[in-house]
Amino acid sequence: MEIKVIVGDITKIEAGAIIVNSFEVMEHLDGAIATIDETLDGAISQLISQGEIKGKLNEITIIHSLGKLPAARVVVAGLGKQQALSQDKVRGVVAETCRFLRQKGIDSIATVAQGAGISGISPESAVKAVTEGALLGVYSFRRHITKEAEYGEIKELTIVEPDVNKLPYLEQAYYEGRVLAEATNLARDMVNEPANHMTPSNMAEIAASLAERYSLELSVVEQEQMAELGMGGLLGVSQGSQQPPKFIVLHYKGSESTKLDVALVGKGVTFDSGGISIKPSEGMEEMKGDMAGGAAVMAAISAIAQLKPKINVAAIVPATENLPSGNAIKPGDILTAMNGKTIEIISTDAEGRLILADALSYNKKLDAKHIIDVATLTGACRVALGDVCTGAFGNNQELINKVIAAGAEAGEPIWQMPMYEEYKEQNKSDVADVKNVGGRLAGAITAAQFLAEFVGDTPWVHLDIAGTSESKKERAYLVKGATGVPVRTLVNLVLSLAKG
Ligand code: BES
Ligand code: MN
Ligand code: ZN
Repeated sequence: MEIKVIVGDITKIEAGAIIVNSFEVMEHLDGAIATIDETLDGAISQLISQGEIKGKLNEITIIHSLGKLPAARVVVAGLGKQQALSQDKVRGVVAETCRFLRQKGIDSIATVAQGAGISGISPESAVKAVTEGALLGVYSFRRHITKEAEYGEIKELTIVEPDVNKLPYLEQAYYEGRVLAEATNLARDMVNEPANHMTPSNMAEIAASLAERYSLELSVVEQEQMAELGMGGLLGVSQGSQQPPKFIVLHYKGSESTKLDVALVGKGVTFDSGGISIKPSEGMEEMKGDMAGGAAVMAAISAIAQLKPKINVAAIVPATENLPSGNAIKPGDILTAMNGKTIEIISTDAEGRLILADALSYNKKLDAKHIIDVATLTGACRVALGDVCTGAFGNNQELINKVIAAGAEAGEPIWQMPMYEEYKEQNKSDVADVKNVGGRLAGAITAAQFLAEFVGDTPWVHLDIAGTSESKKERAYLVKGATGVPVRTLVNLVLSLAKG
């Protein structure tokens, strides 16, 4: 979809459809919608007085202009109550409207900076929301479907702004929105790919192409070197698989300082069968998405490289399959992680924390000032929080607050979970330093407590995206399948850290 911001008058634009907004409780029409209403001989005000247009959030009304306007159709999209409007609602309405028009076979759309000036939404954030909503909402994953889609693509979206002075700011806002949305869709593509198309090697290849395209520095630690570094967790998990593990490190350098500001660590289990502690076969196909954390940090650093904040960032992805075999690790085995701590394996299905143990320990080498890890870590987090918000855990309240704020800005809600010392006991082992399962109670928290063993004192936040990395249904700008959460949160966070 080509998106552009132009200066002009929306009522004069030629397009398959122009989108304007209605609100719940509209005393009178003003601005573009009033002009359009006049041109359409009062069609909109009539629909309002008849109660067909109520202005409710996501209400879509299509009116054919029958030659009275250069645009063939006018779509009135409801934004709900003015005082309750948010940037995220704009994203959602735009997504719903674009999908609706796509289904009608309309391929060129024009709209305004929806929501601008209402409820504290700046014109810039409105343009950003329109851009993100459109690009995220019409996303589809059809790479492996040979049949043609039932609908065409929307080719053109024009955002029309009357004030010429605002144009440069709005163009920048559009650019940021596009970078964020495209990065999110990149993560979605990676997560939606089946495990035979998204092996650890495939992830490393994608990292190489991102490095090339966005001038990132790439290093991939191979199996032999993993052994030298003592990455017993990652090697342990991968030993049941025929696919070689990859430890992927991408660097973005935006500041003069030699110091690394942020390490983004993402779980990259390209298929999680559970290993010897094998999962039930029903629904196991979902576990192709167990690399969503890894995909998110790779996509986020590629967006960061395009937006060029003055900060140094690394994305670290321990990538492996988790499969059962004669070589696989077994319950009762003891592994030694890169920081020297020993781990008793209770369940080979608690594999994410084993590979993250090494990835977090690796920060001793990188010495980042902040660590954020992202992982589809526990079914327990999904049970606790569902698919609406991501769970946050950490050792530094200031950083946790920043991550939560970055998530709110992105429309990716994050809820903090407690890290009471008392839970830590559950991870105690009789035969090793820790065990990899702390029992059924508070499973998401004990998983986070396990990770904390490998972090040290660096300010750190762990995001458990087991519930939020995929959506079972279309909802606002999410479509069925991978969501790309929390790519936009990570980028927002890094941008805000760069501002100081
Ligand atoms: N990848 C899973 C967690 C998961 C579950 C992600 C559902 C997305 C949807 C993880 O590796 C896992 O298997 N966790 C176990 C841990 C348990 C053995 C302590 C779980 O949650 O059951
Ligand atoms: Mn598992
Ligand atoms: Zn897993």
